[in-house]
Amino acid sequence: MTNKSSKAITLAFTGASGAPYGLRLLECLLAADYQVYLLISSAARVVLATEHGLKLPSGPEAAQQALVAHLNCDADKLVVCGKDDWFSPVASGSAAPKQMVVCPCSAGSVAAIAHGMSDNLIERAADVVMKERGQLVLVVRETPFSTLHLENMHKLSTMGVTIMPAAPGFYHQPQTIEDLIDFMVARILDHLGVEQGLVPRWGYDHRG
Ligand SMILES: Cc1cc2nc3c(=O)[nH]c(=O)nc-3n(C[C@H](O)[C@H](O)[C@H](O)COP(=O)(O)O)c2cc1C
Repeated sequence: MTNKSSKAITLAFTGASGAPYGLRLLECLLAADYQVYLLISSAARVVLATEHGLKLPSGPEAAQQALVAHLNCDADKLVVCGKDDWFSPVASGSAAPKQMVVCPCSAGSVAAIAHGMSDNLIERAADVVMKERGQLVLVVRETPFSTLHLENMHKLSTMGVTIMPAAPGFYHQPQTIEDLIDFMVARILDHLGVEQGLVPRWGYDHRG
């Protein structure tokens, strides 16, 4: 897979609880100078509004502008893609970034990805990354998991997909919700190979 920018990634927000994880991850990837192709499901828009008070306008360009204003980030590095934008680079193995994260990832999106549905751009982009043997990380959030959820995640895991439940630890002694969010985002960035200093590393700066 190739992409004009060597540091490019696909990020999808889906309709699981955990919108702040996705926003913080987006902020960190942009700060690390990644070109980010952002895909937002309809349910993710509802969750963003419910959990974060962020009401995104419906069109991709308007949503991009709203996110740039919200995060106060560089507009050039963020591309918001529409759910039926089949001409987006992320829709083809010839152009898609090698890495993709779905954060937060709903149980519904897990099921669709596990079965190769490719019925919207998020599902298609995930299918492309898998078929091109790239890195796909799903930050799944649901509780409890049904047997079906577990079967779908097991299936994807055997295909090399990283299943990373949105389950922050407490051993870094979080003081704020932001500390919990950063714990998850730090682990995701570690898996992507993106340098981060969001939380102290175990065994180094650990608070005793
Ligand atoms: C506020 C809110 C929170 C939700 N939380 C979850 C959740 O944590 N996990 C989940 O699997 N679905 C959750 N859902 C339901 C999904 O949004 C729904 O199944 C949707 O169809 C998922 O579609 P998507 O994967 O295309 O975004 C939530 C919905 C709303 C409105």
